[in-house]
Amino acid sequence: MTPLRLDDLRQHSDKLRLRGGTSISVRFVEPGDAGRLAAYFRSLTTRSRYNRFLGAVSELPQSVLDDFIHVGQAGRFSVIATVPLDDGVEAIVGEARYAFDPDTDSFEFGLSIHDSWQGQGLGSALLSNLQCRAASFGASRLIGDTLRSNDAMIALARNAGFSFARHPDDWKLVRFEKEIEIAPEEIPCASWRLAAQSSTSSAASVS
Ligand SMILES: CC(C)(COP(=O)(O)OP(=O)(O)OC[C@H]1O[C@@H](n2cnc3c(N)ncnc32)[C@H](O)[C@@H]1OP(=O)(O)O)[C@@H](O)C(=O)NCCC(=O)NCCS
Repeated sequence: MTPLRLDDLRQHSDKLRLRGGTSISVRFVEPGDAGRLAAYFRSLTTRSRYNRFLGAVSELPQSVLDDFIHVGQAGRFSVIATVPLDDGVEAIVGEARYAFDPDTDSFEFGLSIHDSWQGQGLGSALLSNLQCRAASFGASRLIGDTLRSNDAMIALARNAGFSFARHPDDWKLVRFEKEIEIAPEEIPCASWRLAAQSSTSSAASVS
């Protein structure tokens, strides 16, 4: 598993390039992002928020927001996709939350893209980035749950090679899954390839 230094999470920032050439940064959420993250969720359409949280949510409860900003707590991680604004501040245009379960080698995630940025390839780019993050943990399976009615997420997952299964507990949901087998040196994101390779070599040196 990748040893993440939680005091230096900025080193694990990535740049995504969209079809039209726009550059997007992806980085771990920091405590100072709390207000902007709450505003991001508030500014999603009701439908997008419903799809993201699998039910009606108008305002993110403080406890959920606290979980989002405490990256690494209970093995859960949150990232935001941002673009720079003219005044030097970043705007949040998407987010994802993920966790790795070493018992099942599974990497579970959920994500959202702001409505004004949907349909431009950002969801697809962020999903690819999540696959790099999963591979750096040594995960062999990616898993997500979505509402059966969420055509956009189902199409995104299908395009990315996921297969679909009945959700074990909730008939309203569908589970999408993908097996991955990526050697550390083949991870297609530079920062996560390096992280995985350094974790492999430090494991080898202690064994
Ligand atoms: C699902 C979601 C993440 C997709 O993000 P996106 O940035 O719009 O997706 P992309 O532009 O990368 O599209 C990727 C593919 O998904 C499919 N897709 C995206 N939006 C679609 C829509 N409204 N209807 C059908 N297919 C759609 C297409 O196949 C598309 O490929 P193409 O552009 O080559 O045709 C976004 O709609 C979203 O955030 N929705 C609200 C939150 C949510 O549903 N989260 C999922 C919970 S796990």
